[in-house]
Amino acid sequence: MGLRNQSREVNLPLVHLADSQATLELGKSLGRGLSAGTVLLILGDLGSGKTTLVQGLAAGLGIPGPISSPTFTLINEYLEGRLPLYHADLYRLSPDQVEFLDLDRYWDDGETLPGIVAIEWGDRMIQPPPQALTLALSYSQQEGRQARLGAILAANLVQWEAVIDHGLLVNEV
Ligand SMILES: Nc1ncnc2c1ncn2[C@@H]1O[C@H](COP(=O)(O)OP(=O)(O)OP(=O)(O)O)[C@@H](O)[C@H]1O
Ligand SMILES: [Mg+2]
Repeated sequence: MGLRNQSREVNLPLVHLADSQATLELGKSLGRGLSAGTVLLILGDLGSGKTTLVQGLAAGLGIPGPISSPTFTLINEYLEGRLPLYHADLYRLSPDQVEFLDLDRYWDDGETLPGIVAIEWGDRMIQPPPQALTLALSYSQQEGRQARLGAILAANLVQWEAVIDHGLLVNEV
């Protein structure tokens, strides 16, 4: 069943990620499938795998070299891949500080090359951009983690189809 038929459900599907490798693979599929201008809010508790997912995303974009957590730098920019990757981490920031970061410049006004904006702790944005997709990681009752794909607006859930069509969400539960 296509996501179009499920547009009343804002949070589908749930994907089981048995280990770190599975988180990396999901990230890779996003890096290969998502298009320029995508804003991805990555949600989930401490240690749930957010940075691991972005490492996979970077690999899927063809970005060489290590992807480190932007916990201190706040935003890291990688321009060597298929599309630019802008990786932010809002963990340490108050709402005022999030505002001051001015993340909008990555998707609004042509100030930066359109790319993929991956924001750890993206739920700390008071006004997330309406076009944003969400990916919520949580600890699984079994081993590993689970990922719930979603969108701020249900109409944007169809964007996940570009990724799902690649047949990569084989662990869908
Ligand atoms: N699906 C998984 N199953 C088990 N362990 C995983 C899975 N995905 C990632 N991990 C592991 O969880 C640990 C934390 O991962 P990571 O640093 O990516 O989390 P994070 O959400 O970015 O943490 P933080 O909240 O500190 O930024 C790492 O050791 C990573 O290898
Ligand atoms: Mg992290």
